[in-house]
Amino acid sequence: MTQEKVELNVRTAVRDRYSKIAETFKVGTPADCCSDVATSCCGDSEADARDEVVHLAAIKKFYNEADADTLPEEVTGLSLGCGDPVTLAALTPGQTVLDLGSGGGIDCFLAGQRVGPEGHVIGVDMTPAMLEKARANKAKIGADNVEFRLGEIEHLPVPDASIDVIISNCVINLSTDKPQVFREMYRAMRSGGKLAVSDMVTEGTLPDGLKDSLNAWAGCVSGALDVEEYISGIKQAGFVDVQIVPVYLDRDQVDDAVRQLGGEIQLGGLSKEAVYKSVFSAKITAHKPA
Ligand SMILES: C[S@@+](CC[C@H](N)C(=O)[O-])C[C@H]1O[C@@H](n2cnc3c(N)ncnc32)[C@H](O)[C@@H]1O
Repeated sequence: MTQEKVELNVRTAVRDRYSKIAETFKVGTPADCCSDVATSCCGDSEADARDEVVHLAAIKKFYNEADADTLPEEVTGLSLGCGDPVTLAALTPGQTVLDLGSGGGIDCFLAGQRVGPEGHVIGVDMTPAMLEKARANKAKIGADNVEFRLGEIEHLPVPDASIDVIISNCVINLSTDKPQVFREMYRAMRSGGKLAVSDMVTEGTLPDGLKDSLNAWAGCVSGALDVEEYISGIKQAGFVDVQIVPVYLDRDQVDDAVRQLGGEIQLGGLSKEAVYKSVFSAKITAHKPA
């Protein structure tokens, strides 16, 4: 299979996964509606998608409770990140912020509160069903300083040097062309601008069996870059002051992720212990030189 075909397959798997998550998400859906794959309400992949939403309720511990409480469940229930890039970004009023892979919009809405009416937040996502949710959430909240654009993070739909701060939450690992994403972030950012990203990274490379799993890629595990590669990719794009702080996930969260991947079978023989040790979320910051 050509590299182009592999990339297309991954992108399609990622878009399908997040479409299903957006389409099946319902506020107040009983958490374990689809945990039994044999039930009639979902097929396997829908169950996987719903499981991820359930899993993400747990991830809300990444957010300050007071922040999460300002948003409706339509937003917090569809939070699919692995950190809190808005707090990491230390935003100030009036800034223009770009969120790569904005999903249901949680970080855009939190960023919108920080930058205020003089500021502006743009969320970019390639999955139309996610954009639909995000735009409905914007209307519900009345977040006038937030907008959502359809687009790929490899080809950002914004002009050169137009953004003060770029945030992203658990998305860059999903890209099949991370150097292109880093170059695009650099192009879009104004001189002196800041990058604040939460993302999955690895320590060392993962075994082929796991890397080859489309499901594992779409589930934010097998596309994760080695931490050193991540740092050098960002530096190669031109960013300076690159810092990565690892935040190890607890075992329950890794167990959930492994369960979504179909257990040992799709891990290519890799033990859960190895996954606990090698895949983790990280806080990543950098600047474009002034
Ligand atoms: C794990 S979810 C994270 C969503 C959101 N950042 C959050 O924290 O809830 C990944 C999101 O990134 C989007 N996405 C994945 N790859 C993308 C790409 N190459 N370009 C644009 N969006 C992408 C998906 O559609 C999905 O909405």
